Amino acid sequence: MFDLSKSVLDEVIDGNLSSRDIHLFVKRDDLIHTEVSGNKWRKLKYNVQQCQTNKKEGILTFGGAFSNHLLATASACHAIGLKSVGIVRGDELNAQSNNTLQRCSELGMEMKFISREEYRMSPDKSFLADLAHEFPNFHIVPEGGANYYGMIGCQEILREIEVDFDAVFVAQGTTTTSCGLLMGLKEEQELFAVPVLKGFDSVKEMHTIFEYSGIEKEWLEDAFGKLNILNEFHFGGYGKYNDELLQFIRSFYLKHGIKLDPIYTGKAMFAVMKELEDEKWNGKSVVFIHTGGIQGVQSVEEKSGFKMFD
Ligand SMILES: Cc1ncc(COP(=O)(O)O)c(C=O)c1O
Repeated sequence: MFDLSKSVLDEVIDGNLSSRDIHLFVKRDDLIHTEVSGNKWRKLKYNVQQCQTNKKEGILTFGGAFSNHLLATASACHAIGLKSVGIVRGDELNAQSNNTLQRCSELGMEMKFISREEYRMSPDKSFLADLAHEFPNFHIVPEGGANYYGMIGCQEILREIEVDFDAVFVAQGTTTTSCGLLMGLKEEQELFAVPVLKGFDSVKEMHTIFEYSGIEKEWLEDAFGKLNILNEFHFGGYGKYNDELLQFIRSFYLKHGIKLDPIYTGKAMFAVMKELEDEKWNGKSVVFIHTGGIQGVQSVEEKSGFKMFD
């Protein structure tokens, strides 16, 4: 449905890296689609399939005011001919509150705005049972596409990479993408995850995603041995950023023509560049997974008054 062949592999040409024989590739999942961009179709693909197999009317999912996942779900469902329902965090919001929600509404997403307290309860069984009662024929997908189907969609990313590499880097939110990548690693390859939340227990979250996967415990132990968490690049927490990060995103764009966002991929690429300063990376090849998120840039530009792209 969405053309995965658009996700090419670009090499970042940087004198500091090439003088040390380091190759940095970017898997351009951001090019898959403007709205169903980055890891979004990866996570939705098997959820959509599940929805269709079970003859559901559409997908019901959750997200905040600027959620990339909410917009991607609205856009994908619209393109495929499914209905979509968004449960949105914040009962002060409405369908006109910002560009993301406006676009979700244009794409036909029915939105229900709930308070932050209610939203916090949304993973609870009784809350979900009430929703299933209100929207009886919908396939329910957790916030951020964080379920088994999301994870196995993300596992496919590494299969498309035709160069040899030593490590893969990715931004981490719900951990679904990093769980999928961990499943797709070959022997000797490592995963570096960059959480964008402060005080986040990545390993615990990842275990929750793996919980219902039926994957053997021994395999999981082995896989977690290949995982590295770079915890110092959240810039104060989810949605937080500073001038240094915005300047970094701008200068990366001017040098390499690749747009990053200040919520996820900018933080992760900042981490990559810092990490690669270590001599242990000399002669190695690494892949950065561009997980999209560019639709969120406009609101940060408006708020900060800093223009990241021309
Ligand atoms: C642009 C972008 N990058 C990275 C992530 C993090 O992915 P995950 O939630 O699978 O850890 C998200 C959130 O889904 C995202 O929107």
